[in-house]
Amino acid sequence: WQLHAPLIAAINRLKKEKNAVVLAHNYMTPEIFHGVGDYVGDSLGLAREAAKSEAAIIIQGGVHFMAETSKILAPEKTVLIPDLRAGCSLASGITGADVRLIKQRYPGVPVVTYVNTTADVKAETDICCTSANAVQVVEWAAKQWGTDRVILIPDQFLAKNVARQTDIKIIAWAGACEVHERFNASDIADVRAAHPGAVVLAHPECPPDVIAASDFTGSTTAMADYVTKNQPKQVVLITECSMADNVTADAPGVEFLRPCNLCPHMKRITLQGIYDSLVKHQYEVTVDPELIPRAAQAVQRMIDMPP
Ligand code: 13P
Ligand code: SF4
Repeated sequence: WQLHAPLIAAINRLKKEKNAVVLAHNYMTPEIFHGVGDYVGDSLGLAREAAKSEAAIIIQGGVHFMAETSKILAPEKTVLIPDLRAGCSLASGITGADVRLIKQRYPGVPVVTYVNTTADVKAETDICCTSANAVQVVEWAAKQWGTDRVILIPDQFLAKNVARQTDIKIIAWAGACEVHERFNASDIADVRAAHPGAVVLAHPECPPDVIAASDFTGSTTAMADYVTKNQPKQVVLITECSMADNVTADAPGVEFLRPCNLCPHMKRITLQGIYDSLVKHQYEVTVDPELIPRAAQAVQRMIDMPP
């Protein structure tokens, strides 16, 4: 990524001039992640940072729902995304109207939604969660509402994976991540046959048979931390490909094996796009002001939960 040094230097200069920060998700390419990211991390970390950032402009190195989350938490700031097409199959698979229908069907049952959702879905939500805290949030919601059931939407696989770890009954939805749903247990069997000592880490958006065949499950940051802390000889990250490219800098002795899948939405964000975004102030992400207070309450409740 050092090949991109002139563009990286230009972006870092512009950020200072304009009081802007780049919040870069773990799936950004290394030249973004290492070169221009002021804060790098998982969805939970990026949301926390948006809430406390003192910059005037947030450039979201990530997908649209992440930029909306930043705007919800920091409505007075300008939030820019370098490419408006950077979506997410989970976020596009459910609407606020869908959530209202679910609530009619299960009155009194708390609604937990994954942050990978649009602002209108968050506005219908009691508390958000991410892959880093889903079990904890579900148990908190059940206790607060005094129920033994919780609605956890829209990712059917995250819901199944949470259900395995709690006694709370989970009411799910049929959404899926188009990147993680493509992995299957035979991918892991193949890698274990070829590399018997390899450690297998999987993101909780993967189907349950993949999780069952893995050694560790966690958010993107939890997976990165596992590798840097344990420094296994060989590892496979069952998630987006840029993860391995980024973590390798902190784990030079670790061999990263395949498979991995690319997220076409995350890959819409490029260094050139970030530069253009800073120069032209594009593309501004706005959220209907009527939705912001309710959506902010759902995200803030999650952020305020003890770590
Ligand atoms: P994390 O919150 O684990 O970073 O996941 C976000 C995401 O989009 C994974 O596909
Ligand atoms: Fe959405 Fe999946 Fe891409 Fe994450 S990897 S942004 S969940 S489509």
